[in-house]
Amino acid sequence: LPSDIRYDDLVITTSKRLQAKPRLDATTLKFGAVYTDHMLQVSWKDGLGWTAPSIDPLGPISLHPCAQVLHYAVECFEGMKVYKGKDGQLRLFRPEMNMDRLARSAARLTLPKFDKVELLECIKELVRVERDWVPDAEGFSVYIRPTMIGTHPFLGVGPTREAMLYVILSPVGPYFPSGLKPIKLYVETENVRAFSGGVGNYKIGGNYAPTILPQLRGSHLGCSQVLFVMQDGKSKGGLVGESGSMNIFFLIRQEGESGELELVTPPLDGLILPGVTRDTVLKLARGFGDMKVSERPLHFDEVERASESGRLLEVFGTGTACMIQPVVGLVMKDSEITVPFDGDAAKHWLAKAPGTAALPNSSSDEPLSLCGRLSRALLDVQYGHVDSEWSVVI
Ligand code: COI
Repeated sequence: LPSDIRYDDLVITTSKRLQAKPRLDATTLKFGAVYTDHMLQVSWKDGLGWTAPSIDPLGPISLHPCAQVLHYAVECFEGMKVYKGKDGQLRLFRPEMNMDRLARSAARLTLPKFDKVELLECIKELVRVERDWVPDAEGFSVYIRPTMIGTHPFLGVGPTREAMLYVILSPVGPYFPSGLKPIKLYVETENVRAFSGGVGNYKIGGNYAPTILPQLRGSHLGCSQVLFVMQDGKSKGGLVGESGSMNIFFLIRQEGESGELELVTPPLDGLILPGVTRDTVLKLARGFGDMKVSERPLHFDEVERASESGRLLEVFGTGTACMIQPVVGLVMKDSEITVPFDGDAAKHWLAKAPGTAALPNSSSDEPLSLCGRLSRALLDVQYGHVDSEWSVVI
């Protein structure tokens, strides 16, 4: 029987030359620029299964120039983080969701199955080896990047026969160079990120490369990311999709007497990445109990109408890398929607006592900053200020 990944088989070789740890500073600790000293790796061959996993000094990997990943983008990945709390403990956040998604992405690309529990144990061991790299400041963490690639040296387009899974770690602060400041999004209506029947709901490298050029165009207009809005032939404005590497949320006050608050994000209809932070924000907001929370198709005209009548209250992106990122502008070719962002209200929530942002029906004289309130509630769990079944202590 082909062998699976087994934590008990893990072999650890520690590096003799450890790097100096970087300074904790949002401007110097650029996202994804620094890597820790070790990596986890394990290889797979059709018929034989997985080799023994190993933790080794971080270094280059060697691939045949015909390796499938280099020609046909046979690659999938995950984004997770480990957080260090004031109590010195290391915590992962809902890591089983990442293992499940990695398995789904791999299956879509004919990459091999693996034992999700055993892989997670190996990742925890890598984190233990690198525990001194984990910053203990809120907003900072070590980003974990599990990656699976097709290594079979074969130029025909066919199923994967050889693969490699590796995990690298990177100490990070805020994802955007602007730090925690709100960003603008470029409304991209010509290029699409995902389409019905496509692979937009899988975390595969091939989904990201084509987004870089639109992002570059947007950056010339002062935007840090793009918001994909797809013409669907049904609405003037098109269908709101994702924002580059983030899921996107809109807080809209509904028209009419009730003036109900509604938090809206596009549904998981195959075009949207099922983000861990997306799911968490939905659950937290539903738990607050003081707004309607909807996963539903959202047309850009609705966003424009809401903005024109002062009912577009907040826009924010979510992701493991970017956490909860406020958005202040939606930039189109010849116009711009300005989204209100109350920095003081957001700070009010961030300064609240642990656990209190997560309580339902908070008093109505609290300033409205859903983004700040959600961030507080999320950080409370991630940094261990409150006990939660979402935390996995290492
Ligand atoms: C994440 O949020 O973890 C991501 O994977 C985004 C990334 C492509 C930088």
